[in-house]
Amino acid sequence: MSDTKNFFESPQAAAVYKHKLLKSYIPAWAGKVGSTADGRKVVVYDAYSGPGRYANNDPGSPELLVDTAVAMAELRNVYSIFSEKSLAHCEQLENMLKSKGVESSTYEIRQGPVEKHIDRVLTVSGGQPLFVFLDPFGLTVPFDRIVQILKSRDHPGLPRPQQPKTELLMNFSYEAVRRIAGALRSPKAYAAKDAQIAALDSALGGDWWRELALQESPDWVQQVLVGFADRVGTATGCSYITADVADSLTAKPVYELILFTRHDDGLWKMAESMSLARRDWRQWLVKQNDSQGNAQQELPGLNFTDNESEWVREIAENVKAILSKFGRFRIDEKLEKVFGRTLGLARETHIRKALKLLKTEGVISIVPIGGLQRAWVDPN
Ligand SMILES: C[S@@+](CC[C@H](N)C(=O)[O-])C[C@H]1O[C@@H](n2cnc3c(N)ncnc32)[C@H](O)[C@@H]1O
Repeated sequence: MSDTKNFFESPQAAAVYKHKLLKSYIPAWAGKVGSTADGRKVVVYDAYSGPGRYANNDPGSPELLVDTAVAMAELRNVYSIFSEKSLAHCEQLENMLKSKGVESSTYEIRQGPVEKHIDRVLTVSGGQPLFVFLDPFGLTVPFDRIVQILKSRDHPGLPRPQQPKTELLMNFSYEAVRRIAGALRSPKAYAAKDAQIAALDSALGGDWWRELALQESPDWVQQVLVGFADRVGTATGCSYITADVADSLTAKPVYELILFTRHDDGLWKMAESMSLARRDWRQWLVKQNDSQGNAQQELPGLNFTDNESEWVREIAENVKAILSKFGRFRIDEKLEKVFGRTLGLARETHIRKALKLLKTEGVISIVPIGGLQRAWVDPN
């Protein structure tokens, strides 16, 4: 996001993806974790909220979140907390929420840098389910803060299902990592260089990334992402799922969205939401392309990322490999292996098609009926 000045004029493709993801995931999350919460109350913290709505009237993340809260009001009590550094954005957000008539007891807006507000958000949330969305322009809070958000409400000795439920979705900026790695590689000394490198050390939980940045293998930036996410996972006991997000079908990803969660339901729902968001993002790009009269210029042919029949074949092969290695298995327990390369692209419907294919081939005896998340796959 190199140009932040015009960011809130109208959403670019990467923001379209991000917003589709929130729109699909948050109701599923609130529905699930709120069903067993005290007073059915859940808290959503949009830590880098922006003004709430774009200048062209498209909703930003805050408006999407309050719309979800209002739509679910009969079933769940969704409390929204927004923080934002810019006073002008806070005022715009407040005006927008007031003009929509959003009940003022259902949200709060906190002006100032996110660091100033995290502790209070964790306190206000008590033991209620909490969803934290970190969507900065560049680097977000330090690694230790991420770990604190995910762990600090834990009660020692309580079994996992009774621990407060915390999920965190963050925007991991490839642009920031690429830029700071460039500073690291540069032989020039300049004033901001050391501070930038130190900021990335702090964001990533150490200087382990520097070797990857200096070696610069073709996927070094993805290796940094995995190194970071694995470290958060180890420190918190969370699993994670990620999707890369770009501003066009051919551009390099600008960031990766990472969900940290301790719940298999979260991974399952997020995989579904990522797949739906990608489908809508692609359709949006095609529409934009058509409206600009760019006849197919931006659209590559049917490569793997756009070829649903290939995804089905890939999943079928993955299922075969799992069956031959482990025998009978439950889908959510092998989710990453089932999806393999199709994670973030495919969803439940593609798993079902793959199972049907395997049944036709005689590899499995039945295709489970109903939801597939906890279904067992049995070899023939
Ligand atoms: C990428 S935009 C957020 C977009 C918003 N989530 C949406 O989808 O509509 C990042 C926002 O973070 C704000 N910001 C920058 N540094 C911040 C900080 N340290 N704490 C809180 N907000 C910050 C910026 O003013 C900007 O409005």
